[in-house]
Amino acid sequence: MEANQLTELEKEFENIPLKEALQLIASRFPGQVAFSTSFGMEDQVITHIIGKNKIPLKVFTLDTGRMFNETYEVWSSTANIFDLAIDPFYPDAQEIQNFVNERGINSMYLSVDNRKECCRIRKIEPLKRALKGIAVWVTGVRAAQSVNRQNFKMFEWDEAFQLIKFNPLLHWSDQDVADFIHQNHTPYNQLHDQGFLSIGCAPCTRAVQFGEDARAGRWWWEDSKKECGLHQTKVLADITDPELTQSTDIH
Ligand code: ADX
Ligand code: SF4
Repeated sequence: MEANQLTELEKEFENIPLKEALQLIASRFPGQVAFSTSFGMEDQVITHIIGKNKIPLKVFTLDTGRMFNETYEVWSSTANIFDLAIDPFYPDAQEIQNFVNERGINSMYLSVDNRKECCRIRKIEPLKRALKGIAVWVTGVRAAQSVNRQNFKMFEWDEAFQLIKFNPLLHWSDQDVADFIHQNHTPYNQLHDQGFLSIGCAPCTRAVQFGEDARAGRWWWEDSKKECGLHQTKVLADITDPELTQSTDIH
């Protein structure tokens, strides 16, 4: 993929509404577009558009096994309301069994290394399987979510997976997302009404105070950039090399 091809895509999609953008990308790469959902507000916007318009692209989720019950509830209601197949990907059973036996079920609080290994087993490795054979990975990432994400582009080349990453909501504001959800009666995670903005795994997510960064409630005990590695190309590149996995510090 040439850099100018990404620039061309960026230009082409700049002013296209969400529904048309998803339809266009699905028709441009038939059978090779996949959307990952964690059932957050922005993911629900994309899922609503895909489900309502029966846009032919794959929808998957990484079920880490540590998600909130409210997340499973919105997953279930979303699949029913839109009659949509949401493909779950799970951690490798042996890997997670070894990890819990050796380091402990809540060992993510004890060290950054434990936390990263938990994220690798529960999210990154399943993500690799989910993206096999995929040319375009659609995400709900938005620039307003954190300072780090303000540098993201709508179309990016993901070196590790050798695919195009498409963030169609990149320039949507918090208000844009909230308005869509309310105007369209889109199902959403009930935790959003309890001060949770960005929702990940239960042990690693807490509500945030008024005025705090949207991602301040993620891995709150760590002084980090608040990324688990899904959206850090360098980290993903590193995990394909087992030697580097041992030494890389994402913070
Ligand atoms: S994370 O890297 O910190 O976990 P975040 O929660 O902000 O990511 O979500 C950003 C995007 O990453 C979501 O819109 C979704 O596309 C993808 N994503 C994050 N977590 C998952 C998950 N468990 N399953 C599928 N996709 C996910
Ligand atoms: Fe494990 Fe927490 Fe990462 Fe979830 S977010 S995979 S529980 S360390």
